[in-house]
Amino acid sequence: MCGIVGYIGQREAAPIIVDGLTRLEYRGYDSAGLAVLNGKIHIRRDVGKLHNLRQRLAENPVNGTLGIGHTRWATHGVPAEHNAHPHISMNGQFVVVHNGIVENYLSLRAELTTAGVTFQSETDTEVIVQLIEQLARLGITDLTELAQCVVQQLRGAHAIVLMSKSQPDRLVALRIGNAGGIAIGIGENEYFVASDMPAILDYTDQMIFLEHRQIATITAHGYTIKTLDGDSIVPEIHVIPHDPVSAAKGEYRHFMQKEIYEQPRSITDTLGGRIDFEHGRVILPDLNLTPERAQSISRLVTVACGTSYYSALVGKFYVEQLARLHVEVDYASEFRYRDPLIDNTTALLAITQSGETVDTLAAIEEAHTKNTLVWSIVNAIGSQAMRVADGYISMNAGPEIGVASTKAFTTSIVDQYLLALYLAQLRGTVSSAQLRHYIQDAAQLPNLISEALEQEKVVQHIAEKYGDAVNFLFVGRGIQYPIALEGALKLKEISYIHAEGYPAGEMKHGPIALIDAKMPVLAIALQDSLYEKMISQIEQAKARGGRVIALATQGDKFIASRADDVIYLPPMPPLLSPVASVIPLQLLAYHSALLRGADVDQPRNLAKSVTVE
Ligand code: AGP
Repeated sequence: MCGIVGYIGQREAAPIIVDGLTRLEYRGYDSAGLAVLNGKIHIRRDVGKLHNLRQRLAENPVNGTLGIGHTRWATHGVPAEHNAHPHISMNGQFVVVHNGIVENYLSLRAELTTAGVTFQSETDTEVIVQLIEQLARLGITDLTELAQCVVQQLRGAHAIVLMSKSQPDRLVALRIGNAGGIAIGIGENEYFVASDMPAILDYTDQMIFLEHRQIATITAHGYTIKTLDGDSIVPEIHVIPHDPVSAAKGEYRHFMQKEIYEQPRSITDTLGGRIDFEHGRVILPDLNLTPERAQSISRLVTVACGTSYYSALVGKFYVEQLARLHVEVDYASEFRYRDPLIDNTTALLAITQSGETVDTLAAIEEAHTKNTLVWSIVNAIGSQAMRVADGYISMNAGPEIGVASTKAFTTSIVDQYLLALYLAQLRGTVSSAQLRHYIQDAAQLPNLISEALEQEKVVQHIAEKYGDAVNFLFVGRGIQYPIALEGALKLKEISYIHAEGYPAGEMKHGPIALIDAKMPVLAIALQDSLYEKMISQIEQAKARGGRVIALATQGDKFIASRADDVIYLPPMPPLLSPVASVIPLQLLAYHSALLRGADVDQPRNLAKSVTVE
């Protein structure tokens, strides 16, 4: 999950690279560095966040119009200055930044050491640039040719950008597999390279995306793209919409806080243009789906990671209840290793905010090898998961910068609701009257979310009251069970409090042994068909000295006599209630993290886009 930025053109490279890295810092922040080539290769790097690199540059500036930079999420080699990218070859001829893992780096390192190479880092990445220099000693001078040869020796997935002291007029960038993308931005006699578009969208909206096994040679006046086998490629130039305002923090303290509060707006945008209220129909043209094809599908398999996986668990209820289609939900990181039973009567749905999660992309590849129809629900416009799917639904949530996913979670749930209704339309499993009813329910969502956000003060008080907790249990049933899982993930990933989500009905099969005064239980007990069962679970926890926070429906006075604390939500359509019931849990995680002084937007050990396995 590293961030890569490169520049070649007429302007000073360093400021552009640092600006780009700032926008990628959420991808990884164990260290940062850059190299600029102006006769010599000048490197500046530091451990920790980008402000340390800025300090280095202020103390010791570098000038030049060709450069590459990197923010690191450590895989091999501890976070330290000497392990920070860029890495330079032993004789100072070549320099590299890299996203991915050289899976056979130990054997390559041993061979190179035997050949007399002295390594300066413990990283896997350094073998790339040392291999290139060794090969150059055999007389190959062209950087592109050198890269093509060396990359054949590397196992794993890679995104690599290189510079050569002897060819100071070019950058070479290449992509193998799904270790994060390579976007090439087209400017006026200047070109940009980035692992993620936000890094360079302020400079250009014209983007090219390298695909698997493609290599680009980029000068200040143009580019050539080939396959690693040498075939020339004429790439599609994508024009990417960009709204710099929505990508900034504005008056909010953190991106996560901003993105929590953006949800009424983002859900409005998700619904926008996809519902024909006049005729009571859902419109999803980007899915490229005909009624015949929709009726030929016998099963839907949904794959995702993390928060997106919990969203998929909610979507299962929609597609099964509305489109009467069997849904199987699987972790993308498990899916391809179980030789899944899918074929051309299956549809695979990949849910991924970044569109670059390596496990989710690999699941898509697995589906395509088995002639399975692939849809994706993605947020990052132009991302790999959007481009390789047979049809997609954009979350339309706008850039999500906070590592903890919030608005992407709720919009991906709404996208699945729209997908279920669309499939129901095409498969004839709901009447027109029912369709209108479900559509009207969706139109309520922005207001319901706004009402849920009004509970922030109550939630903040609860975060303070339970601030001493080192463990937390979240329980729910039915369509609220995935929300219990998501609430637990939010809390643990930004406050570092250990939290577990559990199906409430399973408590008596073991976890209830955990209940005592030190283990707060957040029970999602809205007035739905499982309410009575949830009350029973609350009683069971209270009988064992547990402290219970209930998520309840406004007007429910009884629950206040059973739970220690209550967070009230407005009455909601049962199917859509998860979109609002998650809001207090997002706010609970946010305030708990603030109380602990944790880094809300960039929690330790995490990155926004997981592009390594
Ligand atoms: C969610 O808060 C986490 N940041 C993480 O679980 C994330 O949802 C997961 O890595 C999947 O990311 P994606 O949606 O971009 O594929």
